[in-house]
Amino acid sequence: WWRHVEAAPKDPILGVTEAFLADPTPHKVNVGVGAYRDDNGKPVVLECVREAERRVAGNLNMEYLPMGGSVHMVEETLKLAYGVNSDLIKDKRIAAVQALSGTGACRLFADFQKRFSPDSQIYIPVPTWSNHHNIWRDAHVPQKTFHYYHPESRGLDFASMMDDIKNAPSGSFFLLHACAHNPTGVDPTEEQWREISHQFKVKGHYALFDMAYQGFASGDPEKDAKSIRIFLEDGHLIGCAQSYAKNMGLYGQRVGCLSRVTSSRVVLDQLLNVLSMVCEDEKQAVIVKSQLQQLARPMYSNPPVHGALIVSTILGDPDLKNLWLKEVKGMADRIIGMRTALRENLEKLGSPLPWEHITKQIGMFCYSGMTPEQVDRLTKEYHIYMTRNGRISMAGVTTGNVGYLAKAIHEVTK
Ligand code: LMR
Repeated sequence: WWRHVEAAPKDPILGVTEAFLADPTPHKVNVGVGAYRDDNGKPVVLECVREAERRVAGNLNMEYLPMGGSVHMVEETLKLAYGVNSDLIKDKRIAAVQALSGTGACRLFADFQKRFSPDSQIYIPVPTWSNHHNIWRDAHVPQKTFHYYHPESRGLDFASMMDDIKNAPSGSFFLLHACAHNPTGVDPTEEQWREISHQFKVKGHYALFDMAYQGFASGDPEKDAKSIRIFLEDGHLIGCAQSYAKNMGLYGQRVGCLSRVTSSRVVLDQLLNVLSMVCEDEKQAVIVKSQLQQLARPMYSNPPVHGALIVSTILGDPDLKNLWLKEVKGMADRIIGMRTALRENLEKLGSPLPWEHITKQIGMFCYSGMTPEQVDRLTKEYHIYMTRNGRISMAGVTTGNVGYLAKAIHEVTK
């Protein structure tokens, strides 16, 4: 039956983990996948998560969640993205469902886009997280790209990005990384976000924010939501994909959320009765949510319960939430420390190449500028595993391996 099926190509990120695991060398280093490690290179379960697990253990039953997931978890998650005092939340203008982490949230959005805007396309930054391409490909939404990264400066190509936004047909869909851009670690400044938002307004574009790293850019989830808040101030009806894989370390639990702001006639026609419009808007949010649930039902029916309970327990308890905020900052700070250490080591080795970008870029990744051939040498000769686009997961760098990593990078970039 299946003789015509050929082996799928290895995933550019998860394939690196497979190769790393298959290597018996004791001093091997994995800076491929974006998964946080402590300074001993060990996976981390946050204290707040351990405590939440203790609290939910006795109360956990194994019933199905609703198709849209845990209502409590979704409520708390919206507060993180939109702000605790968000009028949009109060007015119930956000349609939101629990999703299978960030990937599942993006996929639900892509399927929704295909179903209700079947002729639309999605504009994706160059470069982006490799799985974004797979997600919109499998949802059969044609992809266009827009400029983002400037290889020479190893920063943002803001001018070309703005040109692409201006030149895209009015009402286009754009995928934006809310913070800690993956793979480059390069984010627009606040001022640039304001200009981007303004231009989106002029062109009537739609923004879907993928926010997989809230807390990892600055160490403060509130600050990291700035891009979204700027768009909201400008009245955009954004979509937002959230994930707790990184910022709560719940990688395998697959907890995330997809939300969409629904339109407000109040903005369009200020003379209309606000209360009835709130009603109407709430109705719209309910309609959109029902369709998101409809998409989820044949795909996975309803999302998993355990991780959602952990998240809602943490965010619903002020003490646990404060502990979480401290722990996110701790993770972000360790990574910032490793950026400094890697750069200093390379400079001490006398590398004549510029390495400021290691400390300028933010979030989990450093887009090193190494070529695929140089990365291949790192793997072959030094047992250092990373993606061939030159991305280093700083979360895998430790005080124990940073010297070795710097020496190897110096050797292959000479
Ligand atoms: C990454 O970019 O390494 C992570 O988002 C993990 C993944 O699923 O690719």
